[in-house]
Amino acid sequence: MISLKDRVALITGAGGGLGRSHALYLAGLGAKIVVNDPGGGVAGSGENRSPADETVALVRQAGGEAIADYSGVETMEGASRMTAAALEAFGRLDIVVNNAGILRDASFKKQTDDDWRRVLDVHLTGSRNVVKAAWDHLCGRKYGRIVMTSSASGLYGNFGQTNYGAAKLGAIGFLNSLKEEGEKYGIKINAIAPMARSRMTESILPADVLEKLDPRFVSPVVAYLASEDCAVNGQCWAVGGGSVSRVAIVEAEGCRLPADEGFNAEAVAANLEKITDLGNAKPLANLMDASAKLLR
Ligand code: NAI
Repeated sequence: MISLKDRVALITGAGGGLGRSHALYLAGLGAKIVVNDPGGGVAGSGENRSPADETVALVRQAGGEAIADYSGVETMEGASRMTAAALEAFGRLDIVVNNAGILRDASFKKQTDDDWRRVLDVHLTGSRNVVKAAWDHLCGRKYGRIVMTSSASGLYGNFGQTNYGAAKLGAIGFLNSLKEEGEKYGIKINAIAPMARSRMTESILPADVLEKLDPRFVSPVVAYLASEDCAVNGQCWAVGGGSVSRVAIVEAEGCRLPADEGFNAEAVAANLEKITDLGNAKPLANLMDASAKLLR
């Protein structure tokens, strides 16, 4: 049995959609939840306490424990308030689920500086802020589970989402390095790239697809990655509609060009197939692994 009994989880953006689903599922496994959400629209405008309050009420109705926090992740002050709320209410913090998000979609031609900055602030800097605010506590207790929320948009691309895609792939760059730093403190950091019905996707995906994408087909994966039993570190899993699969950045086996005058643009063109063939591509553990491959 996977249990989160006595664990304390901070879930950002848990006032609705996936975050609410995570809160209910993790609470069902025994975790005490800090439901963070300032409310507001999909684009991040406005504030409203009722989404977070409603999630707290739902967790309590189901017999769980939860408190609300209405701070925004985009400032360090907000992030510090959330972690302080966890410590004050429950005396500890074990799990951070970075789920908060907004959309400011526009083609690159039409994207404003504000569209770029706000999306990066919430998704990337916001995730960093919350982890930063929790970090000393997690390191001090030599235990932690962090779940980042990436997106197929960042992993693969989507028209009109250069800001969102950059932020969501940034989450993977962040965890790639943090996994190296957290290991000695018993901290594991992984990511999901979810696909689920929510206010974010209801205007994008067709109704018959949305029907199959209940958020409850994502939250058990978050619970596993947030549990003591989690056996992976530094991974990203694509999750939705009942499907779960690892996503990895891989490097092709490639080829060795002559390390003399023969190393020229023509040789690159002549070896295009070998350079780009992903047949024997492998994920690499870290920068040292990458440089070892290069030198081999
Ligand atoms: P949602 O809009 O229902 O949830 C996002 C939540 O984040 C909202 O409750 C919102 O109030 C909150 N939030 C916004 N700004 C915040 C801030 N500054 N601080 C704290 N909370 C803030 O949408 P959904 O779909 O549940 O999204 C959850 C996460 O999953 C997001 O990070 C999103 O980018 C990501 N995602 C969702 C996908 C999907 O298919 N639904 C696909 C890929 C990624």
